[in-house]
Order: sequence, then structure tokens, then C-alpha cells
Amino acid sequence: MPASSTISHTPNDLSAYWMPFTPNRSFKQNPRLLARAKGVYYYTPEGHEILDGCAGLWCCNAGHQRDEIVAAIQHQAATLDYAPPFQFAHPAAFQLASRLAALAPDDLNHVFFTNSGSEAVDTALKIAIAYHHAQGNAGRQRLIGRERGYNGVGFGGISVGGIVGNRKTFGTLLAGVDHLPTTYNRAEQAYSIGEPDWGAHLADELERLVGLHDASTIAAVIVEPMAGSTGVLPPPKGYLQRLRAICDKYNIVLIFDEVITGFGRLGFAFAAERYGVVPDIITFAKGVNSGTVPMGGVIVRESIHNAFMKGPEHIAELFHGYTYSAHPLAVAAALATLDLYEREALFARARQLESDFAHIVMSLRGHSDVLDIRTVGLAAGIDLAPHKDGAGVRGYKVMQQAFHHEHALVRVTGDTIALSPALIMNTDDMSRLVDKLRKAITHIANT
Ligand SMILES: Cc1ncc(COP(=O)(O)O)c(C=O)c1O
Repeated sequence: MPASSTISHTPNDLSAYWMPFTPNRSFKQNPRLLARAKGVYYYTPEGHEILDGCAGLWCCNAGHQRDEIVAAIQHQAATLDYAPPFQFAHPAAFQLASRLAALAPDDLNHVFFTNSGSEAVDTALKIAIAYHHAQGNAGRQRLIGRERGYNGVGFGGISVGGIVGNRKTFGTLLAGVDHLPTTYNRAEQAYSIGEPDWGAHLADELERLVGLHDASTIAAVIVEPMAGSTGVLPPPKGYLQRLRAICDKYNIVLIFDEVITGFGRLGFAFAAERYGVVPDIITFAKGVNSGTVPMGGVIVRESIHNAFMKGPEHIAELFHGYTYSAHPLAVAAALATLDLYEREALFARARQLESDFAHIVMSLRGHSDVLDIRTVGLAAGIDLAPHKDGAGVRGYKVMQQAFHHEHALVRVTGDTIALSPALIMNTDDMSRLVDKLRKAITHIANT
């Protein structure tokens, strides 16, 4: 193979890479390639500047290619490339766990590291079941998720998740799972900024599920405080508080899946803080190191952790873990990222920008193809009218048009466009982003 082919920025054969959550055949006819990034921009191999409306995939919260994070990763790679996390450890892993525990609310003081949000979710579900087992309640195995929830793609995550496309072709999934209804209701909530007034009562559905299955069979409830992937669905006012109260009443472990909502997306370290509701377990990933090196994890309450700390001292208390748990590069990146978040007060910045962002995005209201808009923190979901050619066609075309012709990266699920800019984006760029999206929507409307 000639040396030049290994450094080419534009691959000449796209067939070998089976891309995740991507229509591969369509992509490969007209690829959207990203070769470089800085700040709030990507650059294509041809050098076009692309305004990143999504912080990558809800993860590069500090913006791209931040010098401090790059330097930390480089230094770590040159110092300690890898250390086995079973039976051994490297010092920075403890430092990061302590930093995360300090950011988490109340007595969520113990951190278990994974490499992704999906692994974090499956880890949280396993810990919840094993916790009840350790307490002598081995009958508590049932898991409750929510319709329109996205909790990653492990078998646990798709079982508690509520997206039919992610579930229907993968067999019977985990047994003993049930679902709360989605909190979204367009007739009651359309164009709400922040948490909608309507819908707290939907948490009472948990009472119904307890009545159906009995509390003695239920291990945990898992919800995203704000459902991100299915289109930015903020929790109705009071909803999470009600879930917490019902979980307390029946001794059910409450898991907040904060893979998207963690690290500033809603203006706080965790959504738990924004809502003043303390779950028993928090999952995180993405923003923990601004998307630079794969990392996820769970943070658990003191009492849950301590329930495992018994038995013979030479035997692992939890038979679970990953080869790359607390990988040195991911840890170094996370420590540098947390420093950056703190030094630049990026969570507070997101809080300050929230209202401006909401009004900028709401300027799309009134467009004939826009059916609803939701905003919370620095996240927005924009529902488009389905195209005459079928569900998802308009959304996909708008995303393509935005990229190729408006030079903006936006996220699409079905006919919903999601925006989640880096916490460093300024309001001028937010306005430019929304103008680009408006032009893309209008262009597709006229085709
Ligand atoms: C709430 C939530 N949980 C879990 C995941 C899965 O994370 P990953 O893609 O890192 O496995 C995601 C990804 O977007 C997510 O939004």
C-alpha cells in the first residue's frame, strides 16, 4: 500500500465501515465527512467550515480541540498508556472519582467507570438488582423504563428504553420490564420553554405499575430527567419530585440517566441539581470529558455502595467491570475537562444563555413545516411536519440540506431536529445556526 493512502483525508472506499445509526447506503452516496474541528466548528476534508449545532453528539460541551484537554491526553499517552483496572489502578482514577462525587448531589459518593453511556446504563441496572439481592430482596428484579426513553443500546438499555425501532428486531429483550408513559403531549405542551406546566400526574403511573406487579418485584425505575434523543422532552414541573416520592414509598431504586443532561447541558453539573431531586444512581458519559475519549460511569449513593461492602475481603464485591474502566487517557481528559468547566464557569454560562437560546430557537415558530418546538437548558427539539413521502423523510432531507448547503451540523431523529450547542457557543452563532436551519427547512418545503 503506498504510504500516501494511509494519510489521505478522503477515503476512496466507504464500503467496509458499517456506520452506526446511519442509513449507510444513502450516506455513502453523498457522505458527510468531518476531518478537523476547533471551537464550535467542524471542517470537511475540502476545508468547508461547518457550524456544529450539536456539540458533536451532545458531548463536546467545552467545544472542540480545547488546548488543555489535548495537552492532558498527549501527556497521559506519553506517561501511562494503560493500567489494568481489575486488582490494580492508577492514581488519577481515584482523583477523578472524588471530583465526580463532589459534583454529584447529596451522598452519591461512589463512582464506577464504564466506557460509554450504554455500559453505564447496563451497569446501573445491574447494580440496582444486585443491591436488592445484597439486602436480602432477591425478588426485586423488575425494571421500569419509559416510553420514548433512550438508554443506550445494551440489552438492558433497549429493554428499559422506549424507542420501538431500537427494540423490535432484537428478540424478546430482558424479561420483567415495564414502562411509564412518555411525558410528552403536544396538545397540552406545544411550544413550551423549559419544563411544561402539564404532566406531573403522569408520574402516578408508577403507582399503577406497583399495583400491577407489586413493589416486592420491582428493583428500579430509570428515566432521563430530560429525554434527549427522542426530541428534547423536558420533564413536566413536579414530575420528577413525584417519581422520587413514589420510589421512596416503595423502596424502589431511582436511576437518572444523565448521559446527556450531565455536565452543563441543563445549566448544572447534573439535572438532579436543577430539579432539586436526588436519585439513587446517576449515569453519565459524553460531557464528562467533552467527548474526547470514550468514558462513562455511574455514581451511586453511599447506602447502595455500602450494601456491597461485606463478605470475604479477598473476593470482589461486585462481579462487573470493563477492561477499559477508568482508562488513563479518558481519566486525564476528564480531569482537564472538569478544570475547564470550572475555570470558565461553563455550567453557569449555559444557565445564563438558556433564555436567549430559547428565544432564538422559538423564532422558527410559525414556519409552515414546524409543528412544535421545545427548549430547555442549551437543548432544543424542533418537530417538523411529515413529508408526503413518509415519516422521517423531511427530517433527513433537512439535515442533509443543512450540512451540504448551509454548512451546519444538526441532529435528526425521525422528523425531529435537535440542537445542543457547545456551552461556549455565543448568541451570534446560535442565531446563525437557527438561520441556517430555517433556510434548510424552507428549501426542503419548496422541493
Ligand atoms: C440518555 C442516554 N443514555 C445512554 C446513552 C448511550 O450512550 P452511548 O452512545 O455512549 O452508549 C445515550 C446516548 O445518547 C443517552 O442519550
